[in-house]
Amino acid sequence: MNWKEEYKRKVSTPARAIKDIHDGQCVVMGHAAAAPRLIQEELSKHCEDYNDVLIFHMTTLGDNPCYKPRCFGHFRHVSNFLSANSRDVVERREGDFFPAYFKDVPAMIGRDIPCDVAVFQATPPNEEGYCSLGVSCDYAKAAIRAAKTVIIETNELMPFTYGDTLVHISQMDHIIPCAYHLQELLLPSAGEVEMAIGRNCASLIADGSTLQLGIGAIPDAVLAALGDKNDLGIHSEMISNGIIDLVKRGNINGSRKTLHKGKVVVTFIMGSRELYEFVDGNHDVEFHPVDYVNNPLVIAKNDRMISINSCLEVDLQGQVASETIGIRQYSGIGGQVDFIRGASLAREGKAIIAMRSTAAGGKISRIKPFLTAGAAVSTSRNDVDYIATEYGIARLKGRTLQHRAEDLIHIAHPDFRPELIEEYERRFKCKYQE
Ligand code: COA
Repeated sequence: MNWKEEYKRKVSTPARAIKDIHDGQCVVMGHAAAAPRLIQEELSKHCEDYNDVLIFHMTTLGDNPCYKPRCFGHFRHVSNFLSANSRDVVERREGDFFPAYFKDVPAMIGRDIPCDVAVFQATPPNEEGYCSLGVSCDYAKAAIRAAKTVIIETNELMPFTYGDTLVHISQMDHIIPCAYHLQELLLPSAGEVEMAIGRNCASLIADGSTLQLGIGAIPDAVLAALGDKNDLGIHSEMISNGIIDLVKRGNINGSRKTLHKGKVVVTFIMGSRELYEFVDGNHDVEFHPVDYVNNPLVIAKNDRMISINSCLEVDLQGQVASETIGIRQYSGIGGQVDFIRGASLAREGKAIIAMRSTAAGGKISRIKPFLTAGAAVSTSRNDVDYIATEYGIARLKGRTLQHRAEDLIHIAHPDFRPELIEEYERRFKCKYQE
């Protein structure tokens, strides 16, 4: 059948599409800037028609209509990366977190995560009937393949992106033409402390490196410190606005990449409208599924691969807690460990954890004798490589427990060094040498 006829037959509305979602089913939804807003709003409006519907997705940007109190008891949410809103939902027990590396999610969909219905955003179809998944490629294809019913919001304002992003209208059951602005992530501008961390990280980055940048306030501060570097490349789970200027000025050109030469490779992006316009129709940016981008063996094919991620606390052995504050689930593992392992396997690779030395307005040291009770170890002491704060860099790989503790005390905030030194002297039965 001519795809245009098939398209006409499948054009639908949110009201019609949600009639194909039934009690007890699991709905896998797009996330972040690519969350399917119209279906979320329609489900929220008609929540009392539903019971025991499980909604799976990754992170949430801004609000999610299905989190509204009136939806309690009708929907349950499962996510493996929490943000401000979904943290509240989990705390109210309207949802739960499941631990998993992001790269494993596509394989888990249909096997460990039931997928009756897939709901995603994409662009309107091109001349051949293919839509682009736009700003979020990650687990969309896996869900569309696994689901019995596929609902796609074809948003005119979704950027058309390249790589492995195309889905054909023959794979869809409901096509909902629409036009709405994507949700934006507006990061606070970096302060003096972040800039100092950025400069420390920059000192580890040689020309011709390929970078992965994690999530949070630090990555863009690192990018801001790279204005004198040349021939950088990007292979990263996600990117935000920080790369735009470096690409425009030519610092990032991918010319020395040993995989996907010349291309910025990502699985999803979150940023401002400027970022979304930057990737729209841009053949230099490639989006691939997360099981490819975050695969350590793929990452390791990039010579001079540098991963830069952040964390919440580190203990004196170098155990890194990035996703929990004590027992409280704060975010998720994402691709942190996969990129650390990939960078460690790469020729001349380096894996950096970059963090402010303190949290909570300077009241808490992030370098601690022991992790807070209940904290999950995200990056183990066996994987950890470099730790950077505003006070310097500690290289932990290949270092003994005693040397690690010394190096970490050295980059801790001076206000907290006395208590770390006390534990050091008790643990290693010797005086700490400044
Ligand atoms: N104890 C108590 N509170 C702490 C804390 C600690 N050890 N560490 C941080 N906090 C507080 C901060 O003070 C801040 O609170 P505030 O907003 O009231 O000031 C809040 O927790 C967030 O901390 P912050 O470090 O500013 O968060 P961030 O936005 O920079 O994100 C991570 C940092 C670690 C949460 C984020 O990078 C993450 O989720 N990493 C894991 C996943 C990952 O690395 N993925 C990478 C591949 S994409």
